[in-house]
Amino acid sequence: MCGIVGYTGRAQAAPILLYGLERLEYRGYDSAGITVNSGTLQTVKASGRLANLAALTNNGADLHGNCGIGHTRWATHGEPTDNNAHPHVASSGQISIVHNGIIENYRKLKDWLLARGVAFQSETDTEVVSQLIDYYYEGDLLAAVRKAIYKLEGSYALGIVAADAPDTIIAVRKDSPLIAAVTDGEAFIASDVTAIIKYCREVIYLDDNTIAVITPGNITCYNKYGKVQDLTPVTIDWDIEAAQKGGYAHFMLKEINEQPKVLRDTLAGRIVADAAGARVDLSDAGLTPEVLQAVRKVHIVGCGSAYHAGVVAKYQLEGFARIPCEVTLASEFRYSSPVVLPGTLCVVISQSGETSDSIAALREAKALGVSTLAVVNVRGSTIAREADYILYTNAGPEIAVATSKAYSAQVAAMTLLAVALAEFNSGAKRENLQAVLNDLIKLPDLEEQILSDISLVQLAASRYFNHSSVFFIGRGLDYAAALEASLKLKEISYIHSEAYAGGELKHGTISLIEPGTLVIAVAACTKLAEKIESNIKEVKTRGAEVLTITTSSLSKNFTDCGDILIEIPDTHELLTPLLTALPLQLFAYYTALNNGCDIDKPRNLAKSVTVE
Ligand code: F6R
Repeated sequence: MCGIVGYTGRAQAAPILLYGLERLEYRGYDSAGITVNSGTLQTVKASGRLANLAALTNNGADLHGNCGIGHTRWATHGEPTDNNAHPHVASSGQISIVHNGIIENYRKLKDWLLARGVAFQSETDTEVVSQLIDYYYEGDLLAAVRKAIYKLEGSYALGIVAADAPDTIIAVRKDSPLIAAVTDGEAFIASDVTAIIKYCREVIYLDDNTIAVITPGNITCYNKYGKVQDLTPVTIDWDIEAAQKGGYAHFMLKEINEQPKVLRDTLAGRIVADAAGARVDLSDAGLTPEVLQAVRKVHIVGCGSAYHAGVVAKYQLEGFARIPCEVTLASEFRYSSPVVLPGTLCVVISQSGETSDSIAALREAKALGVSTLAVVNVRGSTIAREADYILYTNAGPEIAVATSKAYSAQVAAMTLLAVALAEFNSGAKRENLQAVLNDLIKLPDLEEQILSDISLVQLAASRYFNHSSVFFIGRGLDYAAALEASLKLKEISYIHSEAYAGGELKHGTISLIEPGTLVIAVAACTKLAEKIESNIKEVKTRGAEVLTITTSSLSKNFTDCGDILIEIPDTHELLTPLLTALPLQLFAYYTALNNGCDIDKPRNLAKSVTVE
């Protein structure tokens, strides 16, 4: 989604803005622009890649001034043209703004301004905001911004500059993330930390309805009543290297390879030993034994891969912890009149913590009066701040648009929740808990083992990369893993793919299987091995080529029914999705690579979906 960066200080603003925009590229965008303020507003915009903007400005050297705002736009209202790119400068040339979010009542406001003689240059909802601020502007930018936002409906993070306030940026936030940071004699705004972490480690997450006045070395925040707010800065615990490729060809490959470390970080401090052995301790999330004992049902919401992590968790929570569990797409939750009974723990899974649909689902659950748990990666994000309990996934910054390590960290965190609920809620036998935890502790080593030899995955990707349609099948937890594997393949390689519960094929989809169709079977669940074996034979008989992902001890069942067989090491059945994910992510990666796709920035996709 769109990205914002802003700078005011003693340095030239343009190169800092371009650098920040480059760091935000991963969020997905189709045009970019900057305004530098030196008493007059100099604005340059370009559709396409950031390199076009860099070329037009001579890498920023052609724009002089110490204050400015920049933007990467992911088009919603109006095509991705130069004209529709941000910043949007009002007709007077006095006000320039960048905006993330959607102004829902922009048509009404546009008509209102048109009736007052204001001429518009673009098709965007955003231009309404710059023209509205300009309309109210009488030399006091803060007063004009206050009047304008009073009229806005929708979501917005805004960075605003005025020609006659050449060292000031006004930042406003409502339902769209925005941070601010101050150093000696300088100050920044950004839509996420990656844009400014090079310059500062302490950042302020603006609250909803905050207006911040940013000048060199100073930030003053006001709440919606105009009262000065004291917002505490958060220290960022990762550095710029974590958000760089570190020698890998793509962020996605780096992030896939980081999974053993991420798993160790997600588990760290949450598996403790007592006299009877290992147990899960989620007190850092506020999930004390008393809180867990009160849970009667778990209702999980999330989008995309986070939803798939929820599907894995449903099998774990019901199969192992024996707690009823429902999983709903966050985008459906609030419009489906959900029946959420007392005693329900609503779990919102989100990497970014800023996904608009997931935020809405969280607020709906809170309005329904149940406890909420955020399983979130980004510290200080909206979902983390609004939920009752927060279980951080500790995956570190994830830059590739397609998630890999953050998804696994979500699955790991939810596995811990399932084990904790099994102990404190359903009174599972200690030896059953031990069996899972003993294997969970060993899992990062097994992940390293898988990542140390990926030749079969590469072979499979080189054999199958030119297929135009792929079917994934699995049963139980393997079906949940297949859902995520299918999404991974389609989003980065643009190959059509679908995931089916193996038993469901005969009810329609098998009509699509013909000689040469690729079927990828996930077959790591021992108790369902014979069932998936039959499903593989059904498609094989009809000419399908089959790639099977199975465990070392099950592989003998599949030697005569697959074309390529990839083994993962044996582990507790509950944990297999954490291992099958690795070859499946790598298959998607190498297939996309063989197809020459833009792996880290797939077309049309955004890292953080902050609009509904
Ligand atoms: C797929 C992917 C998306 C996200 C989804 C939710 O690879 O990354 O499907 O999982 O947009 O995002 P978060 O987890 O930030 O709420």
